[in-house]
Amino acid sequence: MSSIVVTGRVPQEAVGLLRGAGHEVRVWEHDEPVARDELLGLVAGADALVTLVTERVDTGLLDAAGPGLRVVANVAVGYDNIDVAACAGRGVVVTNTPGVLEEATADLAMALVLMTTRRLGEAERLVRSGQAWQWGMGLLLGRGLQGRTLGVVGLGGIGTATARRARAFGMTIVYSGRRDAPAEIVEELGARRVELPELLEAGDVVTLHLPYGPATHHLVGADELALLGATSYLVNTARGPVVDETALVAALRDGTIAGAGLDVYENEPQVHPGLLELDNVVLLPHVGSATIETRTGMARLAARNVLAVLAGEGPVTPVGDV
Ligand code: DGY
Repeated sequence: MSSIVVTGRVPQEAVGLLRGAGHEVRVWEHDEPVARDELLGLVAGADALVTLVTERVDTGLLDAAGPGLRVVANVAVGYDNIDVAACAGRGVVVTNTPGVLEEATADLAMALVLMTTRRLGEAERLVRSGQAWQWGMGLLLGRGLQGRTLGVVGLGGIGTATARRARAFGMTIVYSGRRDAPAEIVEELGARRVELPELLEAGDVVTLHLPYGPATHHLVGADELALLGATSYLVNTARGPVVDETALVAALRDGTIAGAGLDVYENEPQVHPGLLELDNVVLLPHVGSATIETRTGMARLAARNVLAVLAGEGPVTPVGDV
């Protein structure tokens, strides 16, 4: 019997899988993320951790867990909360959850595309405000998607699923990334690979689908926003620090870009106060993968990873490099 710590509330099915395999499972059963001090105590002696993006897995946490730790299974596809090198140095396997959240996250990215270009946040706020309004030719005019270009930064699973949706809305796809996307995907989407500056110039909407790490810190800053231009929109469902949020506030404020849709923030869960004052940005609380089915699938996959490693098998979905 191994000792497994689940650092936050996850669907019961996943906990059931772990317990059903005969392991001792301790779960942080609260809605609030576990405080760091409590977390350090909770993980002591664990053989496996199931972690959420709100927990930082660093040397301090690895020390607190102790030498028996064998696997950290993040219930997320992104794993910038984990010091992967420190884990590797101690022989701790790190896994994430690709393949189960692409459609839900792409749905949300597309929702943000629509919310920003059609000014739906403003529209909803108007109705809720109780202010008088009536139909008008010029009321809350946005921009249509038909015939426009979507720039996808990172044509992986979520980027591809988002691009598929955008195609159905009549958009043309350009993408950028470290490598060519698979030929069949490129063909299906009619997508063209370009460098980031060209993508920003060509994109009417640019959507970010890349991991966060040193190489992608502030990938989109003042210069990039200037390239995007005054009639274009930025959507970020990836990780907040990929965008220089101070530069974004300035660009939204002075009309350098038309608008933005954000599900993630540079200092999450803090939101830049400048963003809160602006009407041309839609702000969501990191809910990209927040469907019942998807969160269940993510937790189940994390549990399968833990069980595989504890059984001496290879992990199902080990992390790659950022
Ligand atoms: C992820 O999977 O990385 C999300 O951001 C968490 O839902």
